[in-house]
Amino acid sequence: MIFSTLELNKNEPIYTQLERHILEGIRKGELTKGSKLPSTREASKFLNVSRNSVIAAYEELEGRAVITTKRGKGTFVSIDGHKESFDYDIDWNKKVNFYGNTLRNLDIIKSELSYEKGMISFKSIAPEEDLFNVDDFKRALLDAWNFEQENLLNYGYAKGYKPLIDYFTHYMESKGVSTYNKDILITNGFTEAFDIILSSLTKEGDVILCEEPTHNTALKIMKSHKLKIVQIPMDKDGIKLKELEEAIKKYSPSFGYFIPSYNNPTGIVTKGERRKELMRLCREYKVPIIEDGFNEELLYSSSPAKPLAALGGEGNGVIYIGSLSKILFPGLRIGWILGDLNLIDTLESVKRGRTIHSSFLDQSAFYYYLKSGAFNRYLRNVRKFYKDKYNLVMESIEKYIDYDYVTGEGGLHVFIKLKNSLDARKLLDICYKRGVIFMSGDIFFENGQGKDSLRIGFGRVKDEDIVKGIKIIGEGIRELS
Ligand SMILES: Cc1ncc(COP(=O)(O)O)c(C=O)c1O
Repeated sequence: MIFSTLELNKNEPIYTQLERHILEGIRKGELTKGSKLPSTREASKFLNVSRNSVIAAYEELEGRAVITTKRGKGTFVSIDGHKESFDYDIDWNKKVNFYGNTLRNLDIIKSELSYEKGMISFKSIAPEEDLFNVDDFKRALLDAWNFEQENLLNYGYAKGYKPLIDYFTHYMESKGVSTYNKDILITNGFTEAFDIILSSLTKEGDVILCEEPTHNTALKIMKSHKLKIVQIPMDKDGIKLKELEEAIKKYSPSFGYFIPSYNNPTGIVTKGERRKELMRLCREYKVPIIEDGFNEELLYSSSPAKPLAALGGEGNGVIYIGSLSKILFPGLRIGWILGDLNLIDTLESVKRGRTIHSSFLDQSAFYYYLKSGAFNRYLRNVRKFYKDKYNLVMESIEKYIDYDYVTGEGGLHVFIKLKNSLDARKLLDICYKRGVIFMSGDIFFENGQGKDSLRIGFGRVKDEDIVKGIKIIGEGIRELS
């Protein structure tokens, strides 16, 4: 009797347990093709369960053509487990292409030392979720539902949720950006926007210029598209113009990718005059610009600088990527591309070809949240919160760390260049053992430089841990020196 080895539990419906037991029996070869199953009456009596449960299990298996009932004869197994399934192996590592290998090999979540519970982590530059005004968001979600209803659960438009596009259009205008002859595509954050742009507008071997150092995810994506990355050094006012011009002349780049506000990892804001010169150079040599406008809202000390897209006037030479991920709800994965009307038309088709569109439920809720004014209230609150943390970080660095220089004027991170070429990876090993983790600077450089630097992300670190953690880093530096 196949059911003699079945032990029923109380947590699952009886019929699912019966079904699973029969399937197991077939898989293990205890029930072969043609074996007769106990009648429903016999089984229910034997197991002391209702006959309906047995009937339900048999009907379900019959529906899947696993068993067959022959009138007047009984119920029989109609497949052979051993013959129907067999091990079928592929060596997937051999199949992974350049794209897959690049993204896997540069996946720092897998390759870098990982956060362990209880550690002080300066690794992340994610916002502090305790600050999120969740009640405002819940209301926005309900507003979205009340207004759009089931529409939000059906297919939407590749370009994005129209009210949100309009909102971001006005938002960009409020930053001084002309939207004449331009359009917006909603994406899954900066990361997808950048990937869509590079996939659509570059080819293998094209040169792309960017700051040195720069956002490591952007480096990873550029590499995955087989682009030649040329990094241009920065000083405290932003990218160095002489080096930029030389590189433009030498490489005739296809693009410049710049993070003019609170560059990741340095936190440097490219100053007003530098921005204008950067634009002038790119215009003169016809280098299209991809501007990464993340973090513009988190300014503490310098005066607000206009996006490059604003300096580009009504021209179409700048593609602006917007993301509020460092401030608000990065989990919603909402970003946008503002660019030339015809270009956005193409990118819209690319977006449709890749993911159809970003979630309409999320976009709509985000829109109602932004529209309610909650965002501005929230911004005032978080600016003060992060500014206080930033000041504490800077004070603690002054007090405990012997550095060459420190940069960072806003955002959720600062960057430290160590003295005497001290190895930040060795420092990280020491600190890790003492429960402190940070980002070693080399991941932001294309050519293996930056080994003597580190990024301190502080958005989610408690005040007492900021002081304690930076003190530990300072002690590590003294030991290594
Ligand atoms: C330079 C830069 N741009 C943009 C982003 C935001 O990316 P996403 O919108 O995909 O979360 C980040 C996040 O770390 C960043 O460092």
